[in-house]
Amino acid sequence: MSLRLGVCYYPEHWPKAMWESDARRMKALGIKQVRIGEFAWSRIEPSPGDLRWDWLDRAIEVLASHGLEVVMCTPTATPPKWLIDRHDDVLAVDANGRERAFGSRRHYDFSSDSYYEESQRIVRLLGERYGQHPAVTAWQLDNEYGCHQTVVSYSPSAQRRFRQWLRQRYGSIDALNTAWGTVFWSMEYRSFDEIDAPVGTVTEAHPSHRLDYRRFASDEVVRYNRMQVEILRPLSPGRLMVHNFMQMFLEFDHYPVAADLDVATWDSYPLGALEVMWYDAETKARWLRTGHPDFASFNHDLYRGMSAQPFWVMEQQPGPVNWAHWNPAPLPGMVRLWSWEAFSHGAGCVSYFRWRQCPFAQEQLHAGLNRPDNRLDVGGTEAERVAQEIIAVENANGALAQPRGKVALLFDYDAKWLFEIHFQGIDFEYAHFAFDYYSTLRSLGLDVDIVPLNADLQGYAMIVVPPLPIVPDDLPGRIADSGAQVVFGPRSGSKTKSLQIPSTLPPGPLQQLLPMRVWRVESMRPNVSETVRFGTEEGQARYWRDLIEADDDGLQTIATFGDGHPAIVQKERAHYLAGIFDAGLTTRYFEQVARAAGLTPQRLPEGLRLQQRGGLQFAFNYSDAPITLPHAEGAQFLVGQAALEPQGVAIYRPRTQG
Ligand code: GAL
Repeated sequence: MSLRLGVCYYPEHWPKAMWESDARRMKALGIKQVRIGEFAWSRIEPSPGDLRWDWLDRAIEVLASHGLEVVMCTPTATPPKWLIDRHDDVLAVDANGRERAFGSRRHYDFSSDSYYEESQRIVRLLGERYGQHPAVTAWQLDNEYGCHQTVVSYSPSAQRRFRQWLRQRYGSIDALNTAWGTVFWSMEYRSFDEIDAPVGTVTEAHPSHRLDYRRFASDEVVRYNRMQVEILRPLSPGRLMVHNFMQMFLEFDHYPVAADLDVATWDSYPLGALEVMWYDAETKARWLRTGHPDFASFNHDLYRGMSAQPFWVMEQQPGPVNWAHWNPAPLPGMVRLWSWEAFSHGAGCVSYFRWRQCPFAQEQLHAGLNRPDNRLDVGGTEAERVAQEIIAVENANGALAQPRGKVALLFDYDAKWLFEIHFQGIDFEYAHFAFDYYSTLRSLGLDVDIVPLNADLQGYAMIVVPPLPIVPDDLPGRIADSGAQVVFGPRSGSKTKSLQIPSTLPPGPLQQLLPMRVWRVESMRPNVSETVRFGTEEGQARYWRDLIEADDDGLQTIATFGDGHPAIVQKERAHYLAGIFDAGLTTRYFEQVARAAGLTPQRLPEGLRLQQRGGLQFAFNYSDAPITLPHAEGAQFLVGQAALEPQGVAIYRPRTQG
């Protein structure tokens, strides 16, 4: 079976007498793997050196005896109280210099030497005990790096390690002074030891200083994760190394972390996400009980692009969550829809969070597959249905190959930090704009691969680049060689690696493809927009405008702003959008570029989404009305039918051409 269901389970939360029936019911429901242990340090080691393996041995034995595989976790997201009290440098420090307190989770500092050592110790102990256990097939390292704003710490340890990081990056203090431009406001340094964390300054701290601090903090996560991988690999040969990343979480660079793992997994909470992300009130109300039709899939496509083996959803929302300001219940059918949507985008496993709703502590109101009274909840019945459908689909089709889009969207974490630090318009939010480009492509029925800047671009017909301030020197050449149509968002090429304006003005290295200069920029208040004329049609630009002058006649103006400045320019296969445009205009333009790229974009009915995998077409109805699937005549349906009910899923083999 290439498609598997899993569940997150906390044996330490339940009487031992329940474990046996839990395992039996998991197996009967169609669960194949069970994740345990990620917050269990205080039960494994209640006081220093006092190791209690008996309960964990027993829990694994019970699960294994029912043929369930175990995803064993390292418990480092929750150092226990005694450990915090034993060392004075474990707690992370916030921007106001306050230590983060014990009493929840993720309170540790990635730069703490003593925590690094304690982590090595507990990871090694776990690896030695369970690394070769036949039921243990994978290791989840820690839990959700960075959750609750925990990537950056301003502790003395972090500052010390930051100075070393700077020394390595710049070699000499003169090089740093030049790269940052510290002569401005007499901020020059005489040695690396003089450099503090960029906080507490009277007005904004130097942006290059801040950006480097974010890069440093990101590298600390990479280092910490690598330490756990390097301990476990030899102790647990053949087992998968995985981490559960978060949804649309950009606080550290996920690509190098994922490169050290076998499987990138992520935690999918579509309703919680809709509530806490940038969406306006109308959008939040529209998709209240389904989640935005492109949100989970954005993350699927992102994590697929960084996972050596098929990615997993490690935690799938099973019902209402507890952590957003408002926590609606998913419409009936959504847990099934989300599960199939993950598989359609390439997931190897969908694992539900959690087996049973917990009647105590912070997450009492977070649903599970089972209610606190141990009866199956709605999500549980839907998971059971998915398990049966998996058997039917795989029997009919065999294992499914990974999806591969014709469109690549280039995604970069550093861009997010740079725009956050050096925003110029407070609502210029990288994730929001990258998501909107993605969503537009998906509404045109196009499958998208989200890939890093250094990805192999051969084979793509169209490449979309959300605002990318720092363009690597080799990127324009690699894009040109791919032969793809490419669309760049505004502010692309606007900064050098050290966050300075390029000497030839933006778009810097992109001038190889686009003979133009951005001679002025302006940001716009939320209630202000600028008309854009595109052929006979009109649209609006919001948030941002680049004012462009052409360097030679090869540059064509495709659309203009109301005041005559170019709004879209093109040279051959390269296109540049000089603003953030409304959905209508972006859709029209992407549609035109996709056609020029030889693709067949189709405007999907609102709420319908399509995805191809392994010769099968998947369709999902996020809307509240039935939808008749376009181009499904003569298709062979494995699940569902051409008349797709609200929250419905259809899986079919399209009619063969000719
Ligand atoms: C995740 C986390 C889980 C649980 C869940 C609740 O962020 O990994 O431990 O807290 O959210 O939705």
